[in-house]
Parts: sequence; C-alpha cells; structure tokens
Amino acid sequence: MLEVKNLQVGFEEAGKITWAVKNSSFSVSAGEILGIVGESGSGKSMTAMAIMGLWPADAIVRGQLYFQGRKIDFAQHKAWQELRGVMMGMVFQDPTSTLNPLYPVGQTVAEALCYHKKIPLEEAKRKALKLFTSLGILPAATRAQQYPHQLSGGLKQRVALAAAICCKPSLLIADEPTTALDVTVQAQILNLLTAYVREENSALLLISHDLGVIAQTADRVLVMCRGVIVEEAPVIKLFKHPLHPYTQLLMNSLPRLDRNVLHNIEKNGTAASSVGCVFAGRCQYCREFCLLEEPALKTITENRKVCCHFPLTKGRSS
Ligand SMILES: Nc1ncnc2c1ncn2[C@@H]1O[C@H](COP(=O)(O)OP(=O)(O)OP(=O)(O)O)[C@@H](O)[C@H]1O
Ligand code: SF4
Ligand SMILES: [Mg+2]
Repeated sequence: MLEVKNLQVGFEEAGKITWAVKNSSFSVSAGEILGIVGESGSGKSMTAMAIMGLWPADAIVRGQLYFQGRKIDFAQHKAWQELRGVMMGMVFQDPTSTLNPLYPVGQTVAEALCYHKKIPLEEAKRKALKLFTSLGILPAATRAQQYPHQLSGGLKQRVALAAAICCKPSLLIADEPTTALDVTVQAQILNLLTAYVREENSALLLISHDLGVIAQTADRVLVMCRGVIVEEAPVIKLFKHPLHPYTQLLMNSLPRLDRNVLHNIEKNGTAASSVGCVFAGRCQYCREFCLLEEPALKTITENRKVCCHFPLTKGRSS
C-alpha cells in the first residue's frame, strides 16, 4: 500500500540543516495498523506530514514514496492534490484544526463528499448523515446542523474522522487522535479507527506517544528516537521483549502498580554525542564504539529490526 524509502525531513538554520527525520524506511500494507511511537520531537508528525504532502514551507524533504505502487515525487506538490481526501485521509490531535468553525459540521462533511466524489449536494448530505449515524454522532440530523463549538471534544473528533473517511481513503493517518480525549472516549475513537481499517481493508498509520494506545490498537510498531527508527516489530513481540535500549526505557518509564521505580528517560547514560548512535547520550549500555559509529536498522529475527550495535537479545536485557 505505502512504501517509504530513505525519508529525510530537515530544517535549515544559519546554513546548517537539522534533520527531524533521518533516512526512515518502512512500509504499511492494506488492512494493517502500523503504530509510530516515540517521545515528543522524535519526528512522528514530520513523517506523517511528508507522506501527506503537508510539510511546513521551510522544510527540506527528500526520499522516495510509493503509494499503491505509484511513485510520488516530493518535488511535485501537485501529486497530492488528487490523493488527499480521496485516497489518503488524515485525523489530527485537535479536531478544531480540521473543522471550519463557520460551517455546520454536516455541511463540512457533505461538501468534502461533493468536491471529491463529484456528487450532488443532496446526495452528499444523505451520505454524511448515514456516516454520522454509523460513527455514533447522534441524533445525526440534529448534530449535522450544529457548529464545532457546540460539540464535545469526543463528538468533534468523530466528525473529524467522518471528514477523513467519507471518501473511503485506502490510507488513513491518525496523528495523536485521542491525546486530547478522556480514556473512555479514547477507546471509542480507537475502536472506530480499527473498525474502519478492518471493514475497508485500508491501511492505518497511528501516531502516538502513548504506549497504551499503540499496544491496544497497532499490529506492528515503529519506535522513533530523535528522527531515527530505532526499532520495528510486531506489537506483541515489541512489548514482550524490546530489543532497543530506548524502547526498553520508554516501557520502563510507564507507571506500574507492581513497581515503585520510575525510570526517567532523560537521565541515563553518558553525555550526548553529535556523531554515532542518536541514543548514546541516554543509553546505559553505551560503549565507546557507539559514540563513533552510527548503527543501521538491521533485521535481527523474522519481522524484527533494530538500530543498535548491542541490541537487548536474550541474556543481555536488564
Ligand atoms: N517548522 C519547523 N521548523 C524547525 N523545526 C521544526 C519545525 N517543525 C518541527 N520541527 C522540529 O522537528 C522535530 C520533529 O518534530 P515532530 O513534530 O515531528 O515531533 P513529534 O514526534 O510529532 O513530537 P510530538 O509528540 O510533540 O508531536 C522537532 O525537533 C521539532 O522541533
Ligand atoms: S548503539 Fe550503543 S548507545 Fe546506541 S542504543 Fe545501542 S547500545 Fe545504546
Ligand atoms: Mg507530533
């Protein structure tokens, strides 16, 4: 469905480029939920924005992107015009950024359908109401007349989801779609996303800094640290046995009832280095070699990749 090769997203300042995403390569298949997890600033959103052709004007984007077997050229912004909204949909953390405050929410979705599907407005309105009903935006006819400010956060996110999926895109990207919601509504939105993927055989790229959200929803996971994919694994294997010290630390930083020690992900290891491994400055397993040589993302076992010179294979993890 989607293949990303050597993706780089950078920003130039005073003649120097800082890379927010460094040589990322990954793919996602139809019917699959690929989670991207990592701390704030690790490059999750920039990865999504590059795929959607929505990167900031001052960003430098390089790499290769293949969508349904077709190569999309990062230099041709027009390429996304016929894809976005129709073949690719996006759900953001803050639904207010998606919804026009001046339009009733039903109109926002109906007009998206009209524009992309080239159908009459009345038909689009009927389809929008049907979609509202299936997504639990009830009573659909009343809700469709309301403005975003009249809806709760959960309902707004459902409407944003309706706008993203109304044309049944084969790739959906959800960037922190539940971060602003309470846990009950969070579970409902994740269930709706999962149902969409399973019913339409679409691919979902689910971005979150919340390991719980990823564990509960994703099939496979990419772990990002400072712009680098440091680990890739099926979700069960990743949580059972993380291979990268950063993944292990992320998991150890989660509060647990059976443990009273919380690991601070800022305070482990040696001083930060500008060469070598991106995690060296915080890694308790760091050796001199890690500061000199940048590790590559390598296949360790079936379906598992790790970007570390000394991965936490059996017998090594603490
Ligand atoms: N317009 C910009 N100019 C310069 N740097 C930027 C710009 N936008 C993002 N960055 C930098 O790119 C890096 C990656 O940002 P990104 O938004 O992808 O992080 P993220 O993993 O999505 O974090 P969060 O969990 O906080 O959303 C950050 O270090 C950020 O400061
Ligand atoms: S390469 Fe070295 S510093 Fe980097 S994560 Fe692995 S052990 Fe730690
Ligand atoms: Mg982000």
